[in-house]
Amino acid sequence: MIAIACDHAGIDLKPAVIAVLDELGIIYKDFGTFSHGSVDYPIYGARAAKAVASGECDRGIIMCGTGVGIGMAASKVHGIRCVTCTDTYSAKMSRLHNDANMLSLGARVLGTELAKDIVRVWLMTEFEGERHARRVGMINKLDDGEELE
Ligand code: RB5
Repeated sequence: MIAIACDHAGIDLKPAVIAVLDELGIIYKDFGTFSHGSVDYPIYGARAAKAVASGECDRGIIMCGTGVGIGMAASKVHGIRCVTCTDTYSAKMSRLHNDANMLSLGARVLGTELAKDIVRVWLMTEFEGERHARRVGMINKLDDGEELE
């Protein structure tokens, strides 16, 4: 199951993300927001991120105006590696090499079709593991407050 969430600036992109999830037959849980009324993006980023971190959801896709703020907020939740993407290559590599477990998108940055392509490639690409697992493990150590050397 995929967690999705957005703020008021991301809400117009949410139907496009849901359309890709439906196209791929992937179930999702929507953590809001549900209207254009102004809200604070960290609340929604954190709600989706906590669902991913707890294991309730496998991964998450979140949206705000730029994708930046909501992504920053999500990555502050322990265990979250959120990538803000504006291109499909970064989306693919964030899965192959970084095992990104959340994707953030900017509704004021991306056209709908590019956003849908980013979501498709991000959802369909698996982590490569091997040497990349060691490096992701180092990111996780930093998340745990540990030293790397
Ligand atoms: C809201 O105006 C906007 O600041 C927010 O959606 C996001 O772009 C923040 O990073």
